[in-house]
Amino acid sequence: MKKTISNYDIKSKKVIIRCDFNVPIKDGIIIDDTRIKESLKTIQYAIDQDAKIILLSHLGRIKEQADLAKNSLQPIAKRLSELLHHPVLFVPKTRGVEDIISSMKEKDIVLLENTRYEDLNDKKESSNDQELGKYWASLGDIFINDAFGTIHRSHASNVGIASHLPNGIGFLVEKELQALSILNQPERPYMVILGGAKVSDKIGVIQNLIVKADKILIGGAMAFTFLKAKNLEIGKSLVEDEYLSFCKEIMNQYPNKIILPEDIVVAKEKEEESPTKNKEKDQLDPDDIGLDLGFKTIEMMKEILKDAKTVVWNGPLGYYEIPKYQNSTKELLEFLTNSSKKIILGGGDIVALCEQLGFKQKVTHASTGGGATLEYLEGKKLPGLEIIENQE
Ligand code: 3PG
Repeated sequence: MKKTISNYDIKSKKVIIRCDFNVPIKDGIIIDDTRIKESLKTIQYAIDQDAKIILLSHLGRIKEQADLAKNSLQPIAKRLSELLHHPVLFVPKTRGVEDIISSMKEKDIVLLENTRYEDLNDKKESSNDQELGKYWASLGDIFINDAFGTIHRSHASNVGIASHLPNGIGFLVEKELQALSILNQPERPYMVILGGAKVSDKIGVIQNLIVKADKILIGGAMAFTFLKAKNLEIGKSLVEDEYLSFCKEIMNQYPNKIILPEDIVVAKEKEEESPTKNKEKDQLDPDDIGLDLGFKTIEMMKEILKDAKTVVWNGPLGYYEIPKYQNSTKELLEFLTNSSKKIILGGGDIVALCEQLGFKQKVTHASTGGGATLEYLEGKKLPGLEIIENQE
């Protein structure tokens, strides 16, 4: 068990909380504030305990000068303050903040600028630059990692700071780990649904879960690499030819575990107005693009999933950017959430889509981690967590 914020007396202490405020922003407007909302519990607790609160987060990726302004955390400070009903002082710097910090009073909150501003010239944040981690640590008394979405990264603002200060996890990380731990001893049948564009993103998950799960149901564009590996015509559907042999091997090794589509919704173009057809998997023409699971497949998957007790799902099953191709994802979410199964959604696009379709309140857990959840499911060690002290 890792230490948590509640293991420390934080009254009057300067508590550095690493949050994951990496939220989608368009033209300065926050499109989805879920990650900010999920951070509130820990921050509110620190306010109630009369701590001095220093918040850190990254946002986006900073490669060149032009990335700076659009990835500033300023809009986050404003939204956070509204949600907390409490002032949040935004400091548009990542260093040279000692005076501001030393004048902080109990319950004050400051949010420093995007930690990845430090990546501009030589990736100091993302490469866990020792001197940078030490500098940030010098600003506080205790470090709390509540950035589950970033826990698979070894950054100066998580691993770096943690190696210089007494530390623990926040309530969000605690909640995520508790929910995901259901998968260590899942109630069976235990089934996995994988979608999304690429097999390459899911290789580690497939390799790890094929042994643990009872079935892996595959949708999304990644299904076409599997179908091509079975020598089926997939038309102009997305494919990763370099992973055909991986797909062949895993299907040979576990012939009864991998479930592929039986029929597919196709169109000639990836456009809203392009007419669609529902075709059997062996009936695709060379100019067809597969964009969603067909009706027969949806029914077949429901039939398989009806017995499941635990379901983990990562990645949408169709080309969800066009609403008509959200159908299979919607149908299966509706089916699953009308049951008492434990349903864990593995972050990223599937969580956003689930929320948009109105099912998020009905799942057991919707992770705030995209890459982090995938790495958890791959069975990898998470550096941001490894560095945290264990409870005695
Ligand atoms: C995420 O959104 O998955 C995390 O915030 C990590 O972001 P990154 O992939 O840019 O490191």
